[in-house]
Amino acid sequence: MQNIKLNIDKVQNFVSKENIFAYESKVKEASKQLHSKTGEGKDFLGWLTLPSEISEEDLAEIQETADLLREECDAVVVAGIGGSYLGSRAVIDALNNRFEWLAPKDDSPVILYAGNNISEDYLAELTEYLRGVRFGIINISKSGTTTETALAFRILKTQLEQQEGKEDAQKLIVAITDEKKGALRELATKEGYKTFVIPDNVGGRFSVLTPVGLLPIAVAGFDIRQLVRGAQDMQKLTADSVPFVENPAEIYAATRNRLYESGKKIEILVNYHPKLHYIGEWWKQLYGESDGKDLKGIFPAGVDFSTDLHSMGQWIQEGERSIFETVISIAEPNKKVEVPLDKDNLDGLNFLAGKRVDEVNKMAELGTQIAHVDGQVPNIRIEVPRLNEYYIGQLFYFFEKACGLSGYVLGVNPFNQPGVEAYKKNMFALLNKPGFEKESEEIKKRL
Ligand code: PA5
Repeated sequence: MQNIKLNIDKVQNFVSKENIFAYESKVKEASKQLHSKTGEGKDFLGWLTLPSEISEEDLAEIQETADLLREECDAVVVAGIGGSYLGSRAVIDALNNRFEWLAPKDDSPVILYAGNNISEDYLAELTEYLRGVRFGIINISKSGTTTETALAFRILKTQLEQQEGKEDAQKLIVAITDEKKGALRELATKEGYKTFVIPDNVGGRFSVLTPVGLLPIAVAGFDIRQLVRGAQDMQKLTADSVPFVENPAEIYAATRNRLYESGKKIEILVNYHPKLHYIGEWWKQLYGESDGKDLKGIFPAGVDFSTDLHSMGQWIQEGERSIFETVISIAEPNKKVEVPLDKDNLDGLNFLAGKRVDEVNKMAELGTQIAHVDGQVPNIRIEVPRLNEYYIGQLFYFFEKACGLSGYVLGVNPFNQPGVEAYKKNMFALLNKPGFEKESEEIKKRL
């Protein structure tokens, strides 16, 4: 079995290998802090050893619940926001057949998402779609009080109870939340829902390898054991004992910090397969919430190429030179399509006849890399042998490990997110939520 590989060759026109490797002691110090749990946010380091600590019993319980939902339901709604849905969506979107999504050919339920926005139209269309459909709900919230998720759950639960009766509905709802506290825990206990626990020491954006990610992924029919195995192998490959020069997470953390120091303030995660869009969304949350604080941090952006080469490509080629790219490159696609020969050749494409579409995609990738590097955009490449559960597991752990290291090197606490409370306070004040009377009075004076 191969591993994913980090390639920083196309960064070295901008920052030399020596300059990157000069970060070794800082990165190793960060690694010591992580592993000895002595740095900031040390109470949220459960993710570090999650892959090696997940037991066969844990996985069997998740799989059993997933099988029940798969048997019972034609659709399953994953209600959650941020770290409570992006990881599972990233895997499911990457591995699902995009065109069978709403009408799976096998017995898999359709996976739908809710609780990640407050759009009335979205909820109206979702509930309309679910009318008369036998559906289940996986309600995920660590705090148990997130408004977007709680609101969607209230609406979906009401509909499910109306469609199936309260007793049946109760069997089709699973709650994933804190072990003891929070409104969702209380509700789940009172209603008798099947529950799973999000460990106290695992923050939302690091929770994909807990039931938060694993249950929806298993319900969608994907192999959670392979996902975990990939993460386990990457845990070993990025361990503190692995020398810096051989440690991909440490080199990635060093490279992005060095580029940031040299004025590259924006990192764009690039993919060449639309299936990877949500891997980008997951990554954006992981790095954005972890790095962006104390008036510091690389801004994480994402693009889907070649689609976005026809829109954002101009900015990337010739806009302000404050960016670098990290390209996820998939070596071998899972499917095969060849370009047919056309005797009239009116489109002039016969020079491609007999070639695989991926060959064209790969040349677009290479041509873009050369153009962007010529345009002063450093390129990091992450080479993934193919798209499957195992390599996505490797990718998740690689990015998580590098994120923790990167934050410590930058000098921030990568495991908190105090900034996300600001909008919530204002929203609650504007909605007259009990307990927010003072804020309510103050904010109304500003309107
Ligand atoms: O990373 C985080 O902690 C956040 O993005 C949370 O995942 C998100 O806000 C959802 O929180 P909760 O699971 O408490 O509903």
